[in-house]
Amino acid sequence: MTGKTVYLETFGCQMNELDSELVAADLSRLGYTFTLESDRADVVLYNTCSVREQAEQKVWSRIGELAKRKQTQPELVVGVLGCMAERDGIGLLDRMPAVDLLCGPAELDKLPGLLDNAVRTKMALGAEDNADGTSRDREGAGLPLVSARQVALQGDASRRSGTLAAAGDRLEMLDLSRAVSAIEHNAQRSAYVRITRGCNKFCTYCVVPHTRGAEVHRPPEHIIEECQRLADAGVIEITLLGQTVNHYRYEGASAVSIEGVLQPQKGRTYKGSHHRDAFAGEGTTTFADLLYQIHERVPSVQRLRFVTSYPRDFGNDVLEVIRDCPRLCRYLHVPAQSGSDRVLKMMNRGYTVGEYDEFIGRAREHLHQPEIGRPLMISGDIIVGFPTETDEDFAGTIELLERSRYKSCFIFKYSPRPGTVAFDKIADDVPDAVKRQRNNELLAVQTWMSDEVSREQIGRTFGVLVEGVSKKARRAEGLTHGQIRLANAVSLTVGGGSPEQSSTEADACETIQLSGRTDGDQIVLFDAPASEVDQLTGSIVTVRIDSADRLSLFGTLTPA
Ligand code: 5AD
Ligand code: SF4
Repeated sequence: MTGKTVYLETFGCQMNELDSELVAADLSRLGYTFTLESDRADVVLYNTCSVREQAEQKVWSRIGELAKRKQTQPELVVGVLGCMAERDGIGLLDRMPAVDLLCGPAELDKLPGLLDNAVRTKMALGAEDNADGTSRDREGAGLPLVSARQVALQGDASRRSGTLAAAGDRLEMLDLSRAVSAIEHNAQRSAYVRITRGCNKFCTYCVVPHTRGAEVHRPPEHIIEECQRLADAGVIEITLLGQTVNHYRYEGASAVSIEGVLQPQKGRTYKGSHHRDAFAGEGTTTFADLLYQIHERVPSVQRLRFVTSYPRDFGNDVLEVIRDCPRLCRYLHVPAQSGSDRVLKMMNRGYTVGEYDEFIGRAREHLHQPEIGRPLMISGDIIVGFPTETDEDFAGTIELLERSRYKSCFIFKYSPRPGTVAFDKIADDVPDAVKRQRNNELLAVQTWMSDEVSREQIGRTFGVLVEGVSKKARRAEGLTHGQIRLANAVSLTVGGGSPEQSSTEADACETIQLSGRTDGDQIVLFDAPASEVDQLTGSIVTVRIDSADRLSLFGTLTPA
């Protein structure tokens, strides 16, 4: 509803960050404005994550705070979006009367309608609502209770093929309608593009197949069109998103775009491969084809990467495309989850430790080329304390971590999630103290590995996409990035002078630490002239690495 101010906070993964960006663009087009201060908002929306209980607890406590605020600001509209809304559904409304609106991740296209209804109904009912959203005025007048609460969840329909197609089309419009004007204003250089929604793997610990529904692949033309629009708006780095990106496969058919019907591009398949997937017929777009087509058709995207890869079904065709296309990043995020075959089986992961090792070896064989400045960087995810995990199973995980030589690894303590097979069928029998101990032990191993992988980069030269003034420099100067930009704009020396004291001579020699990333997603810190911060931010510069620690590489700006 025009004129209302929205505070939108995102929890969880990159997929949620993208969903929030699309929702914000959608609502902005309808006249809503956004604030970064929750206190100033008429509408508070939380885009939530259910993957672990901890993520949910944060949201519960936020909603608890809002419930108090509603006592003095009853007209406030509170919405829970995303996986928690879908997982907990009506139960969440029962537990949290302060919530006015629920919208699952596969229903986000309906959010503007729901929000409009929530705002209007509240206004019509008067602010004097009961805590459960029904109207006190109406209750007093003996009228039937009307609730302002709005709900859109996919529920049991999530995996039915008929509704799946319809839901896919609706959601497709949301991705396609992405407003690039907002991006232009932010001078955004990096963006996410979804290629697949949902997941069909049903790992026994995971809520995602239940909350995000069945796997649906977006038409390649839509993905390429979106990449092109982002590139036209100045984006130079795109990360393709999906729960299991390497399962991407699209059987050609015409599809709808916001401009009308699109014809599929016929059979421009990746021809470099000797290992082309046997069951990919003409008209089928495989993941390798998709990468190749984006690389060829949107060359102004300097960096193209993707997350998350599934360790099974990852063909050499994909590895060869990455090797042969210079703007495809040498970076893979491939969760192993465990180094024990017994545990992997209980997790329903569908591969063995041997198969995981085989894939990592094959990826390194194809892509690890440090001699041409292109080492392969791999990151992983591990769950410790999965039910029944023994010391011996855990020892296998430590060994896997040592063998895999990840640049970084996310380590999670198993969190039982209602609705999953593991929750229903296997007792959470590893004590929390043991989970914590194993978590710390793995962190120590990974710290060591990250340190080694970082130090291997010393002496190498990398293209670095500059993100801006480093956190350390910002803290040291007590400046926010906005202040530094302002400082540059008025030719201020960043060393702490005032506008009156500024001198061009001082500008010329003043340096400041900038941070950026390699195509393998390693953080690089280097000094640059303070006067060039704005010019360098968002561009790719060449940096020679002089030293390193486990988190960052430190280098010197060199001519390309
Ligand atoms: N408990 C702990 N970690 C989990 N993950 C997914 N579900 C759970 C759970 N129930 C982790 C996995 C996955 C990452 C996104 O979150 O490692 O790869
Ligand atoms: Fe969850 Fe497994 Fe799907 Fe990843 S592949 S989203 S862990 S079910």
